[in-house]
Amino acid sequence: MPKDKRALVLGGKTGLLGQKLSQVLQERGWEVKAPFRGELDIFSEEAVSSYVQEHSISHIFNTVAYTQVDLAEEEKEQARLLNRNLPKILAQVASKKNLYFIHYSTDFVFNGKHTLPYEPEDKPHPLSVYGQTKLEGERAITDILKQNFLIIRTAWLFGEDKENFVSKILRLARERESLKVVHDQIGSPTYTKDLAIYTLNLLEKQGTGIFHLVNSGQASWCELAQEAISCAGLPCKVIPITSKEYPQRALRPSFSVLSTRKFTQLTGITPRPWIQALREYLFSFHLEG
Ligand SMILES: NC(=O)c1ccc[n+]([C@@H]2O[C@H](COP(=O)([O-])OP(=O)(O)OC[C@H]3O[C@@H](n4cnc5c(N)ncnc54)[C@H](OP(=O)(O)O)[C@@H]3O)[C@@H](O)[C@H]2O)c1
Repeated sequence: MPKDKRALVLGGKTGLLGQKLSQVLQERGWEVKAPFRGELDIFSEEAVSSYVQEHSISHIFNTVAYTQVDLAEEEKEQARLLNRNLPKILAQVASKKNLYFIHYSTDFVFNGKHTLPYEPEDKPHPLSVYGQTKLEGERAITDILKQNFLIIRTAWLFGEDKENFVSKILRLARERESLKVVHDQIGSPTYTKDLAIYTLNLLEKQGTGIFHLVNSGQASWCELAQEAISCAGLPCKVIPITSKEYPQRALRPSFSVLSTRKFTQLTGITPRPWIQALREYLFSFHLEG
């Protein structure tokens, strides 16, 4: 574990991943600063520089992003501001202040034409504004930083701190007799708690560069929904449909499973299967009482 453990976690107060990351860092003895929106102007390099100086920050974790994939098709500039300009500013601060920078990116940088899980070195080809702007953010970072940075591509997050696909499906399944869910998009469902812990494992090994970090295995949205509903013991029937039957503004890759081979090579850890992680999430938070 790094000697200096003073983290600035952007998105740490309200984000799905950021809140869990803040919690896990604190549990492992880190000092965590997670300012609300109004407390720090994250788009001002000067303001971020003064903040990290004042609080003797050693690591910046950025979970802030424009994550509304469909709305991004209309709000391109806002998506670019958050997904490209912000990581660029943070990388500049990290470079000048000699801090470690940890940034999260997405499986949606790929076009889904593969049949095998994507490796970090595979050529990105985003299909959406969200994917494109996240890729631009990655490139802005690698243009500035050559060491002491992590770009962690992850996917299909679920966790207890904010509404997500799984919690939404369970809410709907309690209200309806059946649900139609897309079955021709395959990805890597991932528990925020595991992602936070595996991120720290990467830091322990002084990982630098682009890594893929997800739970093991793969699923379609329909399979993920079915597993969650079965686990919760709800009587709702899940009906598989195609993407064509559920048109969305942004195009999504049909196959965006990520390979964690590089992470395992560095840390010796194989991420646990998503089904096991899903059960822990559901048993501890959705099924109690
Ligand atoms: N969720 C997924 O399934 C998924 C999949 C692949 C990759 N990722 C990546 O993982 C990372 C974390 O995703 P997430 O789902 O945890 O994100 P999230 O829940 O949508 O959180 C986004 C955070 O960004 C903040 N934010 C948004 N707009 C802002 C603005 N204009 N100014 C200041 N703060 C702003 C939000 O604050 P407010 O609450 O104040 O709006 C929130 O704390 C992102 O980089 C995302 O691209 C996520």
